[in-house]
Amino acid sequence: MRLVNTRYVEEGSVLARPVINSSGRILLQSGVRVTASYIGRLMAMGYDVLFIQDDRLEDVEFHMSITGQTREAAYKTIENVSKYIESGNESALKAVSIRETIQQMLNDLLFSSDILGNLTEIQGYDDYTFHHSINTTIMALVLGLASGFSEHKLLEFGMGVLMHDIGKIQVPASILNKKTPLLAEEFEEIKRHSTIGFDILRRNNDFSLLSAHVAFQHHEKWDGSGYPRGLKGNEIHEYGKLAAVADVYEALTSRRVYRKAIEPNDAFEYIISQSNKHFDPQVLEIFKRHIAIYPSGSGILLSNGQRGNVVKQNPAFPNRPLVRVFYQGEETLPAPIDYNLIDQPSLMIVAVENR
Ligand SMILES: [Fe+2]
Repeated sequence: MRLVNTRYVEEGSVLARPVINSSGRILLQSGVRVTASYIGRLMAMGYDVLFIQDDRLEDVEFHMSITGQTREAAYKTIENVSKYIESGNESALKAVSIRETIQQMLNDLLFSSDILGNLTEIQGYDDYTFHHSINTTIMALVLGLASGFSEHKLLEFGMGVLMHDIGKIQVPASILNKKTPLLAEEFEEIKRHSTIGFDILRRNNDFSLLSAHVAFQHHEKWDGSGYPRGLKGNEIHEYGKLAAVADVYEALTSRRVYRKAIEPNDAFEYIISQSNKHFDPQVLEIFKRHIAIYPSGSGILLSNGQRGNVVKQNPAFPNRPLVRVFYQGEETLPAPIDYNLIDQPSLMIVAVENR
């Protein structure tokens, strides 16, 4: 199986993974042979890449972070919570379903690998806020697990992360979905969502105050330039620091109405460049060891001009996975070559090319 940009997918290719929407519903099952009209429709719906079957890459490992069932349950939970709050019926907001959702996510994550290779099944850009909340929670829980959080802390933290953007319910959709740059006053309006979310959660006895603080603090920055309070360094709670990394990474790697998704390796570089500025360097040490920069199946170009795909991750060396190459420039090699990049210090991945 390999990851292919939808525009390079050839008619008749066979899907190796299902195509799902953000509520976890399957649009196209794996094994489906795609037609030109499917390809056109998927592109229009925002599916930039697809997993395609490839006999040469049968051993590519795919670790799903959470199951489709868990994703569907999480989606319904957020949908219900949002409905209650929108209708002003906040008292009906019970945390029990949210707690169960986090529990289910944790159970799934304990069975997946400790490197987060594929944050999600491939998705389009419908329902961005729900999709974003679920994926940010997955990533935050991976960071929480890697930080050695107790089960109590994982639940408390996860519940806060799943609800971190709940305050956006009170921000006009015309501002949230704006495709052009925001005016200063519009940005001020968006900034209010952390405080609104904090207030909603802290009024609810089912949430601990620390869960509510995830919503309050997820836009604070290590150097004090964040909002709403401009907290600095360790004034920010560890939940806030972890949530900030997960929130930004997820936002960068997701396709948005106004831009394409950024490749995981570029998002990784950006996050690392923000050490000591936006993010706590200690949190980034954990992040570095638990995120696959080049997810398995990705198309890569090596520094020697050879091109192929990532087959497997090397835990602890996310930038040096196992790869298999098939091409030298545009020429097909006489036989595929496998490289474990840990043993090839002179070889580097220089570009991601999903074709
Ligand atoms: Fe936010």
